[in-house]
Amino acid sequence: MTAYETETETDGHGSHGSHEGHGHGHSHGHGHSHGDHDIDWAEMAPVLEQNAEVTAPVYRQAAAWLRELRAAGAEPSLVVDAGSGPGVVSCLLAEAFPQAEVVAADPERALLDRAEARAARLGLGGRVRAHRAELPDGLGELPPADLIWAARSVHHVGDQVAALTALGERLAPGGALAVLEGGLPPRSLPRDIGMGRPGLQARLDAANEQWFTRMRASLPGAAEVTEDWAALLGAAGLRHVATRTFLLDLPAPLDERARAHAISTFERYRDLAAAEGPEELAADDVAVLNRLLDPDDPQGLHRRRDMFLLVAHTVHVAVKEG
Ligand SMILES: C[S@@+](CC[C@H](N)C(=O)[O-])C[C@H]1O[C@@H](n2cnc3c(N)ncnc32)[C@H](O)[C@@H]1O
Repeated sequence: MTAYETETETDGHGSHGSHEGHGHGHSHGHGHSHGDHDIDWAEMAPVLEQNAEVTAPVYRQAAAWLRELRAAGAEPSLVVDAGSGPGVVSCLLAEAFPQAEVVAADPERALLDRAEARAARLGLGGRVRAHRAELPDGLGELPPADLIWAARSVHHVGDQVAALTALGERLAPGGALAVLEGGLPPRSLPRDIGMGRPGLQARLDAANEQWFTRMRASLPGAAEVTEDWAALLGAAGLRHVATRTFLLDLPAPLDERARAHAISTFERYRDLAAAEGPEELAADDVAVLNRLLDPDDPQGLHRRRDMFLLVAHTVHVAVKEG
Protein backbone atom coordinates (compact mmCIF):
# COMPACT_ATOMS: atom_id res chain seq x y z
CA MET A 1 0.00 0.00 0.00
CA THR A 2 1.57 3.20 -1.13
CA ALA A 3 0.54 5.99 -3.48
CA TYR A 4 -0.54 8.44 -0.82
CA GLU A 5 -0.59 11.93 -2.24
CA THR A 6 -0.05 14.94 -0.01
CA GLU A 7 -3.35 16.64 0.54
CA THR A 8 -4.78 19.09 3.02
CA GLU A 9 -8.50 19.30 3.09
CA THR A 10 -10.66 20.71 5.81
CA ASP A 11 -14.38 20.80 5.40
CA GLY A 12 -14.92 21.90 8.94
CA HIS A 13 -12.40 24.14 10.55
CA GLY A 14 -9.08 22.97 11.84
CA SER A 15 -7.94 24.12 15.21
CA HIS A 16 -8.05 22.63 18.55
CA GLY A 17 -11.06 21.42 20.11
CA SER A 18 -13.01 18.27 20.10
CA HIS A 19 -10.41 16.43 22.14
CA GLU A 20 -12.52 16.37 25.21
CA GLY A 21 -15.69 17.32 23.53
CA HIS A 22 -17.24 14.14 24.50
CA GLY A 23 -16.57 11.27 26.53
CA HIS A 24 -13.58 11.51 28.64
CA GLY A 25 -13.70 10.35 32.05
CA HIS A 26 -13.12 11.46 35.42
CA SER A 27 -14.58 9.15 37.90
CA HIS A 28 -18.11 10.32 37.71
CA GLY A 29 -18.51 11.14 34.19
CA HIS A 30 -16.04 12.11 31.73
CA GLY A 31 -13.50 14.68 31.99
CA HIS A 32 -10.10 15.42 33.04
CA SER A 33 -9.56 16.73 36.40
CA HIS A 34 -6.51 16.44 38.56
CA GLY A 35 -4.89 14.01 36.24
CA ASP A 36 -5.27 11.28 33.75
CA HIS A 37 -4.71 8.71 36.48
CA ASP A 38 -8.01 9.89 37.99
CA ILE A 39 -9.93 8.82 34.93
CA ASP A 40 -11.83 5.65 35.61
CA TRP A 41 -12.02 4.29 32.07
CA ALA A 42 -13.88 1.16 33.09
CA GLU A 43 -16.63 3.20 34.70
CA MET A 44 -16.67 5.35 31.58
CA ALA A 45 -17.36 2.38 29.32
CA PRO A 46 -21.10 2.94 28.75
CA VAL A 47 -20.58 6.64 28.00
CA LEU A 48 -17.64 5.93 25.67
CA GLU A 49 -19.76 3.36 23.89
CA GLN A 50 -22.74 5.67 23.54
CA ASN A 51 -20.54 8.53 22.33
CA ALA A 52 -18.87 6.37 19.70
CA GLU A 53 -22.21 4.97 18.53
CA VAL A 54 -23.69 8.46 18.08
CA THR A 55 -20.50 9.51 16.27
CA ALA A 56 -20.55 6.43 14.01
CA PRO A 57 -21.45 8.39 10.83
CA VAL A 58 -18.21 10.36 11.24
CA TYR A 59 -16.14 7.23 11.72
CA ARG A 60 -17.72 5.61 8.67
CA GLN A 61 -16.90 8.68 6.56
CA ALA A 62 -13.36 8.74 7.91
CA ALA A 63 -12.88 5.04 7.16
CA ALA A 64 -14.21 5.53 3.61
CA TRP A 65 -11.76 8.40 3.15
CA LEU A 66 -8.90 6.24 4.44
CA ARG A 67 -9.88 3.65 1.83
CA GLU A 68 -9.78 6.33 -0.88
CA LEU A 69 -6.31 7.40 0.22
CA ARG A 70 -5.00 3.89 -0.30
CA ALA A 71 -3.73 2.68 -3.62
CA ALA A 72 -6.56 1.04 -5.56
CA GLY A 73 -6.89 -2.61 -4.69
CA ALA A 74 -4.51 -2.47 -1.72
CA GLU A 75 -6.44 -4.08 1.12
CA PRO A 76 -4.94 -3.83 4.60
CA SER A 77 -4.46 -7.16 6.30
CA LEU A 78 -3.82 -5.83 9.82
CA VAL A 79 -5.56 -2.77 11.26
CA VAL A 80 -4.82 -1.64 14.82
CA ASP A 81 -7.17 0.61 16.80
CA ALA A 82 -4.75 2.10 19.36
CA GLY A 83 -6.61 3.30 22.47
CA SER A 84 -9.71 1.56 21.19
CA GLY A 85 -11.84 1.99 24.30
CA PRO A 86 -14.86 -0.34 24.08
CA GLY A 87 -14.22 -1.20 20.44
CA VAL A 88 -17.09 0.53 18.68
CA VAL A 89 -14.72 1.97 16.10
CA SER A 90 -12.66 -1.23 15.94
CA CYS A 91 -15.82 -3.00 14.73
CA LEU A 92 -16.60 -0.21 12.25
CA LEU A 93 -13.06 -0.54 10.89
CA ALA A 94 -13.59 -4.29 10.50
CA GLU A 95 -16.71 -3.53 8.46
CA ALA A 96 -14.91 -0.90 6.36
CA PHE A 97 -11.94 -3.22 5.69
CA PRO A 98 -13.60 -6.61 5.28
CA GLN A 99 -10.39 -8.47 4.56
CA ALA A 100 -8.52 -7.16 7.57
CA GLU A 101 -7.88 -8.54 10.99
CA VAL A 102 -8.50 -5.73 13.48
CA VAL A 103 -6.75 -5.46 16.83
CA ALA A 104 -8.46 -3.34 19.51
CA ALA A 105 -5.56 -2.23 21.72
CA ASP A 106 -6.11 -0.47 25.03
CA PRO A 107 -4.59 -0.52 28.53
CA GLU A 108 -7.99 -1.06 30.16
CA ARG A 109 -9.05 -4.70 30.40
CA ALA A 110 -12.70 -3.88 31.14
CA LEU A 111 -12.94 -1.90 27.89
CA LEU A 112 -11.28 -4.69 25.92
CA ASP A 113 -13.80 -7.17 27.32
CA ARG A 114 -16.56 -4.97 25.97
CA ALA A 115 -14.79 -4.72 22.63
CA GLU A 116 -14.63 -8.51 22.39
CA ALA A 117 -18.27 -8.90 23.41
CA ARG A 118 -19.33 -6.33 20.84
CA ALA A 119 -17.34 -8.01 18.07
CA ALA A 120 -18.91 -11.36 18.94
CA ARG A 121 -22.41 -9.81 18.96
CA LEU A 122 -21.82 -8.34 15.50
CA GLY A 123 -20.45 -11.58 14.11
CA LEU A 124 -16.97 -10.04 13.83
CA GLY A 125 -15.38 -12.14 16.56
CA GLY A 126 -13.24 -14.00 14.05
CA ARG A 127 -11.61 -10.80 12.78
CA VAL A 128 -11.58 -8.43 15.78
CA ARG A 129 -9.41 -9.31 18.73
CA ALA A 130 -8.39 -7.44 21.85
CA HIS A 131 -4.83 -6.76 22.93
CA ARG A 132 -3.88 -5.14 26.22
CA ALA A 133 -1.37 -2.41 25.45
CA GLU A 134 -0.37 0.97 26.76
CA LEU A 135 1.34 3.62 24.66
CA PRO A 136 4.07 4.51 24.10
CA ASP A 137 5.74 1.13 24.60
CA GLY A 138 3.04 -1.49 24.75
CA LEU A 139 2.32 -2.32 21.13
CA GLY A 140 5.63 -4.14 20.61
CA GLU A 141 4.27 -7.65 20.33
CA LEU A 142 1.99 -6.86 17.42
CA PRO A 143 3.01 -7.70 13.87
CA PRO A 144 3.48 -4.72 11.54
CA ALA A 145 0.16 -3.04 10.74
CA ASP A 146 -1.05 -1.64 7.43
CA LEU A 147 -3.27 0.89 9.16
CA ILE A 148 -3.23 2.23 12.70
CA TRP A 149 -6.14 4.34 13.92
CA ALA A 150 -5.58 6.32 17.12
CA ALA A 151 -8.58 8.41 18.15
CA ARG A 152 -8.19 10.68 21.18
CA SER A 153 -5.67 8.33 22.74
CA VAL A 154 -2.35 10.02 21.90
CA HIS A 155 -3.27 13.01 24.07
CA HIS A 156 -3.37 10.69 27.08
CA VAL A 157 0.35 10.05 26.74
CA GLY A 158 2.74 12.52 28.38
CA ASP A 159 5.16 12.54 25.44
CA GLN A 160 2.94 12.67 22.37
CA VAL A 161 5.87 12.49 19.91
CA ALA A 162 7.07 9.33 21.69
CA ALA A 163 3.56 7.90 21.28
CA LEU A 164 3.45 8.76 17.57
CA THR A 165 6.96 7.37 17.10
CA ALA A 166 5.97 4.10 18.79
CA LEU A 167 2.88 3.89 16.58
CA GLY A 168 4.99 4.60 13.49
CA GLU A 169 7.37 1.81 14.46
CA ARG A 170 4.46 -0.64 14.43
CA LEU A 171 3.58 0.23 10.81
CA ALA A 172 4.50 -1.99 7.90
CA PRO A 173 6.42 -0.16 5.15
CA GLY A 174 3.85 1.92 3.26
CA GLY A 175 1.40 1.62 6.16
CA ALA A 176 -0.65 4.58 7.37
CA LEU A 177 -1.24 6.11 10.79
CA ALA A 178 -4.52 8.01 11.20
CA VAL A 179 -4.69 10.19 14.30
CA LEU A 180 -7.96 11.76 15.35
CA GLU A 181 -7.10 14.81 17.44
CA GLY A 182 -8.25 18.42 17.51
CA GLY A 183 -11.32 19.52 15.60
CA LEU A 184 -13.91 21.69 17.31
CA PRO A 185 -15.76 21.22 20.59
CA PRO A 186 -19.40 20.22 20.44
CA ARG A 187 -22.25 22.70 20.29
CA SER A 188 -25.69 21.66 21.48
CA LEU A 189 -27.42 24.84 22.54
CA PRO A 190 -28.20 28.24 21.04
CA ARG A 191 -26.19 31.25 22.21
CA ASP A 192 -29.11 32.48 24.31
CA ILE A 193 -30.85 29.62 26.09
CA GLY A 194 -33.43 31.72 27.89
CA MET A 195 -31.66 31.62 31.24
CA GLY A 196 -28.37 32.87 32.60
CA ARG A 197 -25.83 34.83 30.56
CA PRO A 198 -25.77 34.12 26.80
CA GLY A 199 -22.71 32.27 25.53
CA LEU A 200 -22.61 29.49 28.15
CA GLN A 201 -21.09 26.92 25.80
CA ALA A 202 -18.20 29.21 24.85
CA ARG A 203 -17.40 29.61 28.56
CA LEU A 204 -17.67 25.85 29.10
CA ASP A 205 -15.20 25.36 26.25
CA ALA A 206 -12.78 27.82 27.85
CA ALA A 207 -13.06 26.01 31.19
CA ASN A 208 -12.61 22.69 29.45
CA GLU A 209 -9.38 23.90 27.83
CA GLN A 210 -8.00 24.75 31.28
CA TRP A 211 -9.00 21.36 32.64
CA PHE A 212 -7.49 19.65 29.62
CA THR A 213 -4.22 21.56 30.03
CA ARG A 214 -4.03 20.47 33.66
CA MET A 215 -4.76 16.87 32.70
CA ARG A 216 -1.92 16.95 30.17
CA ALA A 217 0.49 18.55 32.63
CA SER A 218 -0.23 15.81 35.18
CA LEU A 219 0.69 12.93 32.86
CA PRO A 220 3.95 11.09 33.54
CA GLY A 221 6.70 12.51 31.34
CA ALA A 222 4.42 15.34 30.21
CA ALA A 223 6.08 17.27 27.39
CA GLU A 224 4.64 20.48 26.02
CA VAL A 225 4.58 20.59 22.25
CA THR A 226 2.95 22.75 19.63
CA GLU A 227 0.02 20.61 18.62
CA ASP A 228 0.74 20.88 14.91
CA TRP A 229 -0.18 17.29 14.14
CA ALA A 230 1.34 17.27 10.67
CA ALA A 231 4.65 18.43 12.14
CA LEU A 232 4.42 15.99 15.05
CA LEU A 233 3.84 13.11 12.64
CA GLY A 234 6.90 14.30 10.71
CA ALA A 235 8.92 14.40 13.95
CA ALA A 236 7.84 10.79 14.48
CA GLY A 237 9.51 9.84 11.20
CA LEU A 238 6.37 9.65 9.07
CA ARG A 239 5.28 11.54 5.96
CA HIS A 240 2.12 13.54 6.52
CA VAL A 241 -0.21 13.09 3.58
CA ALA A 242 -3.58 14.49 4.51
CA THR A 243 -5.75 16.17 7.11
CA ARG A 244 -9.51 16.28 6.92
CA THR A 245 -12.31 17.28 9.25
CA PHE A 246 -15.63 15.46 9.49
CA LEU A 247 -18.76 17.03 10.87
CA LEU A 248 -21.27 15.30 13.05
CA ASP A 249 -24.32 17.42 12.31
CA LEU A 250 -27.46 16.27 14.12
CA PRO A 251 -30.10 18.99 14.03
CA ALA A 252 -32.81 19.53 16.65
CA PRO A 253 -34.83 17.77 17.79
CA LEU A 254 -32.38 15.06 18.83
CA ASP A 255 -33.41 11.47 19.16
CA GLU A 256 -33.10 9.94 22.63
CA ARG A 257 -29.69 8.40 22.07
CA ALA A 258 -28.11 11.59 20.72
CA ARG A 259 -29.82 13.59 23.48
CA ALA A 260 -28.37 11.24 26.12
CA HIS A 261 -24.95 11.65 24.54
CA ALA A 262 -25.21 15.45 24.59
CA ILE A 263 -26.44 15.38 28.18
CA SER A 264 -23.44 13.26 29.19
CA THR A 265 -21.18 16.04 27.92
CA PHE A 266 -22.89 18.56 30.19
CA GLU A 267 -22.71 16.13 33.10
CA ARG A 268 -18.98 16.00 32.55
CA TYR A 269 -18.76 19.80 32.66
CA ARG A 270 -20.65 19.83 35.93
CA ASP A 271 -18.44 17.11 37.43
CA LEU A 272 -15.36 19.02 36.42
CA ALA A 273 -16.69 22.28 37.80
CA ALA A 274 -17.46 20.52 41.10
CA ALA A 275 -13.97 18.97 41.21
CA GLU A 276 -12.10 22.11 40.23
CA GLY A 277 -14.03 24.75 42.16
CA PRO A 278 -15.09 28.20 40.97
CA GLU A 279 -11.76 29.05 39.33
CA GLU A 280 -12.76 28.18 35.78
CA LEU A 281 -16.54 28.44 35.82
CA ALA A 282 -18.53 31.17 37.58
CA ALA A 283 -21.20 30.27 40.14
CA ASP A 284 -24.03 31.59 37.97
CA ASP A 285 -22.96 29.30 35.14
CA VAL A 286 -22.82 26.33 37.53
CA ALA A 287 -26.36 27.20 38.66
CA VAL A 288 -27.51 27.19 35.02
CA LEU A 289 -25.75 23.85 34.46
CA ASN A 290 -27.65 22.43 37.42
CA ARG A 291 -30.92 23.60 35.93
CA LEU A 292 -30.00 22.23 32.51
CA LEU A 293 -29.30 18.83 34.06
CA ASP A 294 -32.49 18.75 36.15
CA PRO A 295 -34.80 16.25 34.39
CA ASP A 296 -37.84 18.09 35.79
CA ASP A 297 -36.83 21.58 34.66
CA PRO A 298 -38.95 22.61 31.63
CA GLN A 299 -35.88 24.46 30.26
CA GLY A 300 -33.57 21.55 31.05
CA LEU A 301 -31.74 19.35 28.56
CA HIS A 302 -34.09 16.42 29.06
CA ARG A 303 -37.02 18.47 27.78
CA ARG A 304 -35.70 21.17 25.45
CA ARG A 305 -36.56 20.81 21.81
CA ASP A 306 -33.81 23.17 20.62
CA MET A 307 -30.92 20.88 21.54
CA PHE A 308 -28.77 19.81 18.58
CA LEU A 309 -25.35 18.23 18.19
CA LEU A 310 -22.69 19.78 15.99
CA VAL A 311 -19.08 18.73 16.37
CA ALA A 312 -16.01 18.59 14.14
CA HIS A 313 -13.54 15.71 14.27
CA THR A 314 -10.17 16.10 12.56
CA VAL A 315 -8.14 13.16 11.26
CA HIS A 316 -4.46 13.49 10.34
CA VAL A 317 -2.92 10.78 8.18
CA ALA A 318 0.76 9.99 7.69
CA VAL A 319 2.57 7.10 6.07
CA LYS A 320 5.72 5.19 6.70
CA GLU A 321 7.77 5.36 3.54
CA GLY A 322 8.22 1.86 2.17
C1 LIG B 1 -11.34 9.16 24.97
S1 LIG B 1 -11.08 7.47 24.95
C2 LIG B 1 -11.23 7.17 23.21
C3 LIG B 1 -11.69 5.78 22.90
C4 LIG B 1 -11.86 5.50 21.41
N1 LIG B 1 -10.62 5.67 20.68
C5 LIG B 1 -12.95 6.36 20.82
O1 LIG B 1 -12.62 7.31 20.10
O2 LIG B 1 -14.11 6.11 21.07
C6 LIG B 1 -9.37 7.33 25.25
C7 LIG B 1 -8.89 5.90 25.27
O3 LIG B 1 -7.46 5.92 25.35
C8 LIG B 1 -7.07 4.91 26.24
N2 LIG B 1 -5.76 5.26 26.78
C9 LIG B 1 -5.45 6.05 27.82
N3 LIG B 1 -4.14 6.09 28.01
C10 LIG B 1 -3.59 5.32 27.03
C11 LIG B 1 -2.26 4.94 26.69
N4 LIG B 1 -1.21 5.38 27.39
N5 LIG B 1 -2.08 4.12 25.64
C12 LIG B 1 -3.13 3.66 24.91
N6 LIG B 1 -4.41 3.99 25.19
C13 LIG B 1 -4.63 4.80 26.24
C14 LIG B 1 -8.15 4.85 27.29
O4 LIG B 1 -8.15 3.60 28.00
C15 LIG B 1 -9.39 5.09 26.45
O5 LIG B 1 -9.93 3.88 25.99
